[in-house]
Amino acid sequence: MDKLIYLDNNATTKVDERVLEEMMPYFKEEYANPSSMYDFSKKSSHAIREARGKLKDFLGAENEKEIIFTSCGSESANTAIRGALANSKKKHIITTKIEHPCVLNVYKYLEKQGYKVDYIGVNSNGELNTDELSHLINDDTALVSVMWANNETGVINPIKEISEIIKSKNSETKFFVDGVQAAGKVPINVKECGIDMLGISGHKLHAPKGIGALYVNSKTMISPLIIGGHQERGKRAGTENVPYIVGLGKAAELATDNLNYEMTEVARLRDKLEKGILHNIYNARVNTGLAKRVPNTTNIGFEYIEGELILLHLSDLGICASSGSACTSGSLEPSHVLRAMNVPFTAIHGSIRWSLSRFTTEEEIDYVIEKLPKVIDDITKISPYQAELKALKELKLINK
Ligand SMILES: Cc1ncc(COP(=O)(O)O)c(C=O)c1O
Repeated sequence: MDKLIYLDNNATTKVDERVLEEMMPYFKEEYANPSSMYDFSKKSSHAIREARGKLKDFLGAENEKEIIFTSCGSESANTAIRGALANSKKKHIITTKIEHPCVLNVYKYLEKQGYKVDYIGVNSNGELNTDELSHLINDDTALVSVMWANNETGVINPIKEISEIIKSKNSETKFFVDGVQAAGKVPINVKECGIDMLGISGHKLHAPKGIGALYVNSKTMISPLIIGGHQERGKRAGTENVPYIVGLGKAAELATDNLNYEMTEVARLRDKLEKGILHNIYNARVNTGLAKRVPNTTNIGFEYIEGELILLHLSDLGICASSGSACTSGSLEPSHVLRAMNVPFTAIHGSIRWSLSRFTTEEEIDYVIEKLPKVIDDITKISPYQAELKALKELKLINK
C-alpha cells in the first residue's frame, strides 16, 4: 500500500523534520549528562534551559521554574493530580465524565483511597455543564480537573470561565487542566486563564513520543511522583532526556508559529471534509452539532453501521482514522465520551473521529470525500437495519 492519508492526529502526530534536526546533536556529539561539572555538559544544560524558556512562552507562564519536563501527557496528569493532593488535607475532587483515561483512572484509583469525586456531565453536543460545577464546589474541594479540549470530539471547554467560577467559590481549590489536545490548536495562556497546573504531550504536537511537560504555578505545591535526584527542582527525578526536551522546545516554538495556519487552513480543510461527508452520505451526522471545537477535529456518526468495519475498509484505501469504541471483554463498547453525550444508539457504534494536522493536504481531503461514500454504501447494504435506513433516507430527502 503506497497511499497513506493520516487523519488520526489526535492519536499521535508525525515528528516535524525541523524538530528532529534540532534533536540530533544531542544524540550524537552533545551526550553529556547536564548535571555534570565539566565544560562538556554546559551545552546540554544550556539546551534544557532554552527549551524550558520556550515552553514558558508557549504556555504563557510567568517563570521558567514553573515548567517541569515529564515523559508524556499521562505522567503530567498523574504528577499534577497526585502531587497536588499530597499537599492538601481536603478530600473532594470535581472532574468531568469526558476526561481521557489517564485522568479518569487516576480518580477511580483515588476514590478507592477515600477521596470523593464528582463527575460533571455534558450536553448532547459535548459541552460541559458549568452550572453543575458551580453547585458542587465546597470548602472541602481540593481540586477541579477539566480537559481543555476533548480528544474524541475536539469540543473546547470554557477554561477561563471555569477558573473564575472556582476562584469565586473557594480560592484554595486548585485547578488542573489537561491541555494535551489543545496545545498547538488554540492559544494557551495559563496566567490569563487562572490555571494552576496544565499538562501537555509532545507526540500530539509533532515532537516524538516519550516527552511531555507540566506547568505548575509558583503558588501550587506538588510532591514528586518519581522520587530520586534533584532534577526538575526536585519535582521529577531522573537524568533529563536532553534530545527529547530540545525537541519539545522546538515543537512548541513551531506550534506558536503555526497557530494561525492551524486555526484558518486546518479548520478550512476540516470543514471541507465535514461538508463533503454530510453532502454525499445521507446516514452521516456530526456528533457535536454546533459546539466550539479545536480546528483539526470532527466526530461523525454513520447511522446503523459499525465503526470498526468502516475503519477496516478505510485502511484498505490507505486512510487512517479512529473510532471511539474500545473492545472490552469481547463486546464492542461505545466510547465513554459519546455515551456521556447521549449520542443515539443508531450512530454511537458507527462514529468516526477524523483529526487533521498542518501536514494534511487538500488532495488528501478530496480523496476521502471521493472514496468514503462507496465505503459507507457497501457497509450500509449489509446492515440489518434496512427498514430504518430507508426511512432515514426518505426523511433526509424530504428535508433537503
Ligand atoms: C486529552 C488527552 N490527555 C492525555 C493523553 C495522554 O497523553 P500521552 O499519550 O502522552 O500519555 C491523551 C492521549 O491521547 C489525550 O488525548
